[in-house]
Amino acid sequence: MDLLKELESLVPELERGLGQASSLQELEEQRIAFLGRKGRLAQVMAHLPELAPAERPRVGQAANTVKQALTELFEQRKVVLEQAKEAAALSRFDPSLPGRMPWHGSLHPVTLVMEEICSVFGALGYDIVTGPEVENDYHNFEALNMPPEHPARDMQDTLYITESILMRTHTSPLQVRTMKSLRPPVAAIAPGKVYRRDSDITHTPMFHQIEGFMVDHNVSMAELRGTLTSFLRTVFGGDTRVRFRPSFFPFTEPSAEVDISCCICGGKGHVGNEPCRVCKTTGWVEILGCGMIDPEVFKSVGYDPEVYTGFAFGLGVERVAMLKYGIGDLRMFFENDVRFLSQFA
Ligand code: DAH
Repeated sequence: MDLLKELESLVPELERGLGQASSLQELEEQRIAFLGRKGRLAQVMAHLPELAPAERPRVGQAANTVKQALTELFEQRKVVLEQAKEAAALSRFDPSLPGRMPWHGSLHPVTLVMEEICSVFGALGYDIVTGPEVENDYHNFEALNMPPEHPARDMQDTLYITESILMRTHTSPLQVRTMKSLRPPVAAIAPGKVYRRDSDITHTPMFHQIEGFMVDHNVSMAELRGTLTSFLRTVFGGDTRVRFRPSFFPFTEPSAEVDISCCICGGKGHVGNEPCRVCKTTGWVEILGCGMIDPEVFKSVGYDPEVYTGFAFGLGVERVAMLKYGIGDLRMFFENDVRFLSQFA
């Protein structure tokens, strides 16, 4: 067989074949057929040893040239087919389709409620103050009119670190700390974590409170009432009803607990025909404690109780969030289940 002729015929033969290859897959099949290990070129070259040694270099050289020509033909055709494939894909691309949105995190409902309350009181001119979670007995109890052996200390189950150092059981110590460092008029709120030795379905050892207080000349119970009523209506809705019930706290006199009309049943006591489980059919839910700051507290911070009066209040943030968002289970706040948290995005 004339190897040179065979070799030369490969190029036009491939040119014809390539014209028919209409996909990258068919092109690859052709490549294997011509340039593969058992392809046409290899088959021709298998005859090389049959040639006289003097003829081999010439045929070898021709084979290289043909191989190069074949490879180039493939590459050219490949570019054409690739461009065609891309164009086809693009013609199916709809630029008006909405994109994939990046995943956004969301603020924790406790954070949302704290920020909301801080902004309501911030707008009223209150300072936002913070203080240590590891507190001493003096600020947590004694300066708040709960001297050692005071029975009111039994109201709170305290996590003690030493005999006189403890995890604060409420945010009320911020009243003491703030009043000690500022002269009246003072108006501040103190958001933060508090700790109690309590853990069941409705109690967690850590939860959040917000303390608020205002001290000046002639601050009255009427101002306490007005401030808290408008605050509660801002957070829970303008038609929320608010009532004050006499109560007792060692650091306020007189003291009150505040109820709002139940935001789950709208104060009706039932949802459809079902009794409301949140207010237990009373139509009211307790939301915070408050009162006029006790003269004993003023004495411990160095304010003259004959000159100044003030009010204070404290509320649980998780409780506000549960009522506001209709969350039935306190544990939701601490499990950090994304399915729960992402509903607040
Ligand atoms: N410290 C109280 C508690 O943890 C809440 C409280 C009640 C704060 C009445 C106050 C207040 O400032 O006036 O239960």
